[in-house]
Amino acid sequence: MSKIALITGITGQDGAYLAEYLIKKGYIVHGMKRRSSLFNTDRIDHLYQCPHQKERKLILHYGDLTDSMNITRMIQEVQPDEIYNLAAMSHVKVSFDTPEYTANADGIGTLRILEAVRLLGLTQKTRIYQASTSELYGLVQEIPQKETTPFYPRSPYAVAKLYAYWITVNYREAYNMHASNGILFNHESPLRGETFVTRKITRAVSRIALGIQDMLFLGNLGAQRDWGHAKDYVRAMYLILQQQEPSDYVIATGITTAVREFVRMAFEELGMEIAFYGEGIDEKGKIVGIDEKLFIEKAGEECLEDAKTLVGKEVVAVDKAYFRPTEVDLLIGDPTKSKTLLGWQPEYDLPALVKDMMRSDVKEVKKITLLKKEGYRVLNYFE
Ligand code: NAP
Ligand code: GDD
Repeated sequence: MSKIALITGITGQDGAYLAEYLIKKGYIVHGMKRRSSLFNTDRIDHLYQCPHQKERKLILHYGDLTDSMNITRMIQEVQPDEIYNLAAMSHVKVSFDTPEYTANADGIGTLRILEAVRLLGLTQKTRIYQASTSELYGLVQEIPQKETTPFYPRSPYAVAKLYAYWITVNYREAYNMHASNGILFNHESPLRGETFVTRKITRAVSRIALGIQDMLFLGNLGAQRDWGHAKDYVRAMYLILQQQEPSDYVIATGITTAVREFVRMAFEELGMEIAFYGEGIDEKGKIVGIDEKLFIEKAGEECLEDAKTLVGKEVVAVDKAYFRPTEVDLLIGDPTKSKTLLGWQPEYDLPALVKDMMRSDVKEVKKITLLKKEGYRVLNYFE
């Protein structure tokens, strides 16, 4: 008998990688997707199976974390062995604009799932993974952060996730449920949403190098994050639910890097050297050199002449529109518990992550360049 998993947030970055991973392991995967006026399943289209097909491995259901009845009915129908609650309004900056909705979806949404499992009498059958976050540490009280580090959330998103974290612990203790938190540090990939900083950078660097964007505007260049690859992190989610006992785990690489350095690494992937000068809001990044051989290898000879004209030009600037009212300056996790108890080991380091994201974005930009030649309008999103 195949195990049955229900993934909320299956159309997101982690949902897509996790669905693929579980299907490969022989699971039948059910996913909650939101109704949207346009198709929103790009990330899982390669896994999609038409509803008329028999013995499907992937089955999608319309739903929303703000709708208790929908959640309860879906869990009743699916009778999952494992629920991975990945759905969330996951953008920290946007949570300052939509605090009430964020609390409802990211905080109370988790309660709705736990309570549905309890009311349906599934507490001994269904294991629950809650997508908790290093944002809980916010204004960090200890370096590096581990499972016992006190939380100090710094955004409506993080405060909502704090509720979700503790309600998961409470249901575990009160009703003896197999409910666990993965406290995941930032994880990225070619599937990362375009407005998170790493993807915004790899996408913009590819576009600048290939001549379809002039500038990259960023916020806090000094913010430091512990970045890993989403492919490694979904393996940890699975491992957490395979343990005999439920518990909470930090998933991180143990290395932290500044946003500015991520920008440098992204340009370096294409053989371009960037230097930063100035401070605070006046800080700028200027291209100071190009390794032509490497550029040709990574981006193609046809773009080299245009790329050479970038040397001496400013291509990165700070825009305070991207600052947050309260910032999280530094995150660095201690993954000792997950490495020891789960046997989890990441395969990607930061250079390998940057390489993977740049390879994918350069490929994408090349397609766009061709479309542009055909007269298509190319939009510039700076968000
Ligand atoms: P993501 O790419 O933003 O995906 C979020 C998913 O949630 C999408 O499928 C989205 O649907 C769905 N969603 C949003 N609001 C919903 C609602 N009200 N009802 C139902 N579905 C809803 O996020 P991710 O990077 O994959 O992260 C997955 C989870 O891990 C999130 O809970 C996030 O907060 C948490 N987390 C992420 C990281 C990280 O670095 N990536 C680190 C720690 C924790 P649409 O596709 O329709 O928008
Ligand atoms: N998004 C964005 N855009 N961030 C910028 C920019 C910019 O132009 N410029 C600088 N930053 C800084 C942010 O201020 C933040 O300090 C850092 O880059 C990372 O921002 P994001 O990539 O938006 O991620 P996040 O750390 O706020 O949140 C992500 O990771 C959390 C785990 O720690 C999200 O995936 C959350 O859902 C997740 O919980």
